[in-house]
Amino acid sequence: MLFLGIESSCDETGVALVQAQASGVPRLLGAALHSQVAMHRDYGGVVPELASRDHIRRVLPLTEAALAQAAVPLQAIDAVAYTRGPGLAGALLVGAGVAAAMAMALGVPALPVHHLEGHLLSPFLSADPPEFPFVALLVSGGHTQLMRVDGVGRYHLLGETIDDAAGEAFDKSAKVLGLGYPGGPALSALAREGDPNAFALPRPLLHSGDLDFSFAGLKTAVLTQARKLGPALDARKADLAAATEAAIVDVLVHKSVAALRATGLQRLVVAGGVGANQRLRQRLGEAAARHGWRLHYPEVALCTDNGAMIALAAAMRWQAGLAPLAPADGAFDVAPRWPLEAVTVVGTDH
Ligand code: KG4
Ligand code: ZN
Repeated sequence: MLFLGIESSCDETGVALVQAQASGVPRLLGAALHSQVAMHRDYGGVVPELASRDHIRRVLPLTEAALAQAAVPLQAIDAVAYTRGPGLAGALLVGAGVAAAMAMALGVPALPVHHLEGHLLSPFLSADPPEFPFVALLVSGGHTQLMRVDGVGRYHLLGETIDDAAGEAFDKSAKVLGLGYPGGPALSALAREGDPNAFALPRPLLHSGDLDFSFAGLKTAVLTQARKLGPALDARKADLAAATEAAIVDVLVHKSVAALRATGLQRLVVAGGVGANQRLRQRLGEAAARHGWRLHYPEVALCTDNGAMIALAAAMRWQAGLAPLAPADGAFDVAPRWPLEAVTVVGTDH
């Protein structure tokens, strides 16, 4: 079975082709991606209308590129998967509309996919794929969640952010420091030149006893510190960046450790854009070595949004014998707000 995957939920257009047999890990045959980062940079964030229009321009050339890389003709595709949500409504509609039209023209099913399911299954395309069950730490620009994953479609939410996502904390703090958009990678690059202990920033909910997160207060603390420094900020920017990164990473590591302890599981899968953060990887690596846990990451190129994870999620759901997520029969819709529990098989709570 050949699954074409289309991702257009935010500011990346991604198309990829994945091949799956009845069992075994699916194979990535070809992938093409366009990031809109440069286009949105002038505005300091994603402009939804511009994002939608750019997805329209990119999606077909990217489809051709992915198919050419795989050396597979369009007619050979068995299903067209697309991100149904969560994400920006207009942006999602582009991928969903193109997928539905393509599927109808080819006489194959269009398969709606949950964006976060794509992220959390993405490490299966790596050289060292995980085994179920595992704990997943999903850290992106829009989401921060800890999940127990018992199998495809068997997800149990352990904890999540009650306000900002971890990526948002990186991005908003970077903005305070004048680092532009997207701030996460820029802030962490600058942090390497600074002292993480230079400022005492809060670690919200660190000892709350549950697995929830809160990052809104941290951003405010960074802003307060920056204002206090005034003209001296320029000379201390790297220190403040390092302290911010350390605070975010401390909380993510602490709660991941607590989640592994609470579930008794031995594997942690880290997915989403913030998973690219070097300090997070280093600190999780130290904790894993100490406790004898296995750590899994997607390949670097699959950490941020991409089409491969969407094709993969559809392929793995098919392998698991799960019915396609509604709607069917040529109809399509999008779900800008769509909880992961909605794609979880009912009655699988461990
Ligand atoms: O998963 P993703 O590409 O898109 C969403 O679905 O949100 O995640 C993007 C987020 C952004 O907030 C970005 O700043 C953050 O991931 N990010 C990083 C790094 N690379 C990307 N944050 C910290 N350190 C990084 N190296
Ligand atoms: Zn994402």
